[in-house]
Amino acid sequence: MELSELLEIGQQERTRQKPIRVHCCTSTGCQAANSLGVKKKLETAVNRNGLSDRVEVVGVGCMGCCGRGPLVQIDPENLVYEEVTPEQAPSIISGLKDSSVVEAQPGDPEHPFFTKQFKIVRETSGKIDPERIEDYIAAGGYQGLHRAIGEFTPSEIVNEVSKSGLRGRGGAGFPTGLKWATVAKAPGDRKFVICNADEGDPGAFMDRSVLESDPHRVLEGMAIAAYAVGASEGFIYVRAEYPLAIERLQKAIKQAKKYGILGTHIFESQFDFKINIRIGAGAFVCGEETALMHSIEGKRGNPTPRPPYPAQSGLWGYSTLINNVETFCNIPAIVTNGGDWYASIGTEDSKGTKVFALTGKIRNNGLIEVPMGITLREIVEEMGGGVPGGEVKAVQTGGPSGGCIPASLLDTPVSYDSLAQVGSIMGSGGMVVMDNQTSMLEVAKFYMEFCRSESCGKCIPCRSGTVQMYHLLNKISDGEATEADLEKLEQLCEMVKHTSLCGLGQTAPNPVISTLRYFRHEYSELLQPETINV
Ligand SMILES: Cc1cc2nc3c(=O)[nH]c(=O)nc-3n(C[C@H](O)[C@H](O)[C@H](O)COP(=O)(O)O)c2cc1C
Ligand code: SF4
Ligand code: FES
Repeated sequence: MELSELLEIGQQERTRQKPIRVHCCTSTGCQAANSLGVKKKLETAVNRNGLSDRVEVVGVGCMGCCGRGPLVQIDPENLVYEEVTPEQAPSIISGLKDSSVVEAQPGDPEHPFFTKQFKIVRETSGKIDPERIEDYIAAGGYQGLHRAIGEFTPSEIVNEVSKSGLRGRGGAGFPTGLKWATVAKAPGDRKFVICNADEGDPGAFMDRSVLESDPHRVLEGMAIAAYAVGASEGFIYVRAEYPLAIERLQKAIKQAKKYGILGTHIFESQFDFKINIRIGAGAFVCGEETALMHSIEGKRGNPTPRPPYPAQSGLWGYSTLINNVETFCNIPAIVTNGGDWYASIGTEDSKGTKVFALTGKIRNNGLIEVPMGITLREIVEEMGGGVPGGEVKAVQTGGPSGGCIPASLLDTPVSYDSLAQVGSIMGSGGMVVMDNQTSMLEVAKFYMEFCRSESCGKCIPCRSGTVQMYHLLNKISDGEATEADLEKLEQLCEMVKHTSLCGLGQTAPNPVISTLRYFRHEYSELLQPETINV
């Protein structure tokens, strides 16, 4: 397909679209609140009001403000309605003629929740129908891939990604360009690209939302990566708990193949790339890259020591590029706008944007995409609207591998280095706000219990250490522990951190370490005095 043909598909789609688009969120969060019922009523009302020649109801992906769903947004006026019920839906359509009749609760598109966002990954989430490739193409989709294949050599693409400063969004923050360069240089003519969509952190739903809202962006990012590193086959590893994401991905792959955007001779070039979906059974450890690859190979999902890294010896021993969903979603924009453009957003060590799942004791919860460098205070107090009826006590980032940052450090900017300096991590994007009623010991226990039950059991420090640490945390919260137990807990944290085989064990003590760093008194006040044996 020539670029002109791609642009023509987009043009035809824009001509087909009606001047007024009533967007109704059909992602999992809003579906759980009956958005499909709302959508049906909106469609009926459009017909009843005789508006079908200029109004269309479009099922779109997540708009971000998930806690206020079902959400309905009207373009081009940019009116937003929150918590819409099927009963209120007809009044929204009647409101196109007379706004005074609308019964639904209006939202505020000028709220910092929306205005402080910078959308690259989620640029078209909530604006396009994720089940229609034409809608993605009309919004500029697949132009990055076309440009990559038509205008750049593979090594030029790798250079652009290196220049962008993009770091992996799966948690570890490894420089993406360096990883791509290693795979590109690896010997052998068979290579793989894997998209890690396992997303097992409690509280995290960024990747699920992107897959449900904009599956073609993930495919486009993967295809550009495959071209750059010389791979012709890819896998998306996604958990079975994400049925809607899987369904939309399957549809998207089928549509892309139909247009010759995936498969053989992509855009009439010599480049071939096919994508397979592999469905995981939901074990947290299967998100770890070596375990994930074993799972794809049909083996038990246990991690193995690195080196060798996947780039050296990955799937079935071949050099493999593995990146997170969000990492891939940044790629089309980097190719289209250039690595320098991307590097101009964010901070010295953290370029671009980051998607967070903002949850917990917060007024506005949902998904946000913010420029790196924004402070936690701006996110929590301005965008999130603060804690309803209370005060922020701490913000947890990085899930079970992360830490709790106290309210006194809310002015910390969001970047890999600054979050690490305060004892947490960027992680994959979970951000849980805690109020002053929250027991930090209970928080530490919650994450330790998670790691204890998700430990694969392969190595003793993690298998046994997480059980022992969980036991000690319970002993403390039951008021049966002494200072010696607390010391033992701290020793175990160090031992498990330094001797576990994979990232699960290596980071499992982090929630304990960070709560001890800032909230030690909550542990100490529960300790029993030492009994002295005479
Ligand atoms: C226990 C564990 C779970 C992980 N889960 C995920 C996950 O769900 N998604 C993900 O992208 N990375 C996950 N990772 C990180 C991956 O091992 C790997 O670093 C990542 O997929 C690389 O992609 P990136 O460079 O784009 O971040 C996990 C790591 C560990 C140790
Ligand atoms: S650290 Fe834990 S999850 Fe990782 S290999 Fe060892 S037992 Fe398994
Ligand atoms: S799921 Fe509907 S706004 Fe996020």
